[in-house]
Amino acid sequence: MTSNAVLTPVPTPGDEPADTSGDSTMVRLIRESWATVEPQQDELAQFFYGLLFSVAPATRELFPVNMEVQRSRLLRALVHVVHMVDRPDDLEPFLRQLGRDHRKFGVFLTEQYQALGTALLGALRRFAGDAWTPEVDKAWTDAYSMVAKTMQQAAEADQGPAYWTGQVVEHQRITWDLAVVRVKPDQPVPYRPGQYVSVEVPQRPRLWRYLSPANAPRLDGMLEFHVRAVDSGWVSRAIVGHSQIGDTWRMGSPMGRMSVDRRSGREVLMIAGGTGVAPMRAMLEELTRWGDNPNVTLFVGGRGRDDLYDLDALNTMTATNPWLSVVPVLEEAPGVPGAEHGTLADVVTRHGAWAEHDVLVCGSPAMIRATVSRMLVAGTPLDRIKYDPFTLD
Ligand SMILES: Cc1cc2nc3c(=O)[nH]c(=O)nc-3n(C[C@H](O)[C@H](O)[C@H](O)COP(=O)(O)OP(=O)(O)OC[C@H]3O[C@@H](n4cnc5c(N)ncnc54)[C@H](O)[C@@H]3O)c2cc1C
Ligand code: HEM
Repeated sequence: MTSNAVLTPVPTPGDEPADTSGDSTMVRLIRESWATVEPQQDELAQFFYGLLFSVAPATRELFPVNMEVQRSRLLRALVHVVHMVDRPDDLEPFLRQLGRDHRKFGVFLTEQYQALGTALLGALRRFAGDAWTPEVDKAWTDAYSMVAKTMQQAAEADQGPAYWTGQVVEHQRITWDLAVVRVKPDQPVPYRPGQYVSVEVPQRPRLWRYLSPANAPRLDGMLEFHVRAVDSGWVSRAIVGHSQIGDTWRMGSPMGRMSVDRRSGREVLMIAGGTGVAPMRAMLEELTRWGDNPNVTLFVGGRGRDDLYDLDALNTMTATNPWLSVVPVLEEAPGVPGAEHGTLADVVTRHGAWAEHDVLVCGSPAMIRATVSRMLVAGTPLDRIKYDPFTLD
């Protein structure tokens, strides 16, 4: 999703300042020093990669051939997580997943983590100039060490494969910019409905992107992905336009914390924009396997009717599952019978605060940000809202 999402996440539980003064001094020093170099972050990124590849030349082949297209996501993510070291409850599970997932890039060695730390600190030192004091140096060193240690320990502890492979068995072009792709893995991928996996396709080597399976785990392991081609998108356009039956995909460890808690005693509100409906459908499919479920209301939104490509399948599900209601929402098409008009944020909050519901939100970073902010204003408690806050690409 968009780069801004990395540096300006929507609020998450735990956004309040840390209560340990040591950590808050560290984070203050990190934030202030980053603010001094941030205007030069493109040059800093270039210098950072140059330094990394000179101190550890073997790391070059881990990265895509064309470094422009991967848009310094690693550097941005690094800076983002280092800014969050005073929020260990949020950060640690995420870092553990990230560390396990990094094995798919071939990253697990202490030397690799050390080289990256050297490059990060070297680049910051160079661009911060006089703002780089011994205290600032220590703050970044300590924070990076914590991040690297957490990731590396999780990677070492994981007994599972670094990635799974699977073959494309179906490629269905739904519209010019949307495809449903079914992949049969060689071994079942152990995901929970609502999670996502990163995927590498043969048309775009070493450019991994996150996709959310749209089905609950099945005995034959089959995975269904809904892929929207974004403008100038390297990977999504290749998948939608050029996937072939028989292509081998690689898939990383499942990640993400969206799930339905059937035992919470609360009803569920799901809000999905575009292909954000995929993980919702996976969770609903799982619920249909149980006799007794909480009531679920799913708002599924898009600009026009074509964006609601999955509505027929969802309506079929509502016909046999009385606990489920689906509300189509159209942003740019007023007056369509059976659909509400407006953005998802408008429509959902028009129905009230949903304060007694467990809320799940999925879609583009802009949609998540707008919807969560409006719901908070409407009175939905923050700790009832779940989404995957670390939109990392
Ligand atoms: C947790 C998670 C789950 C995801 N699940 C799915 C899914 O199930 N199906 C799916 O199609 N996509 C999903 N995505 C988005 C997907 O990972 C890619 O970001 C998207 O396909 C664009 O990749 P790209 O290589 O084509 O574009 P890039 O080459 O990376 O980017 C090209 C341009 O498009 C912009 N851009 C990137 N992503 C988006 C976006 N999502 N919307 C609008 N503009 C964008 C970039 O800022 C850039 O300007 C998910 C993302 C996350 C973080
Ligand atoms: C120590 C903290 C680190 C953090 C927080 C971090 C974070 C990230 C993130 C968020 C991504 C994008 C996620 C994805 O595409 O799945 C990424 C990608 C990547 N990382 Fe890391 N990483 C770390 C360490 C390392 C190290 C030590 C190496 C190797 C030297 C490395 C190599 C890569 C590569 C090759 C990619 C894919 C290409 C790219 O997207 O840039 N990372 N990293």
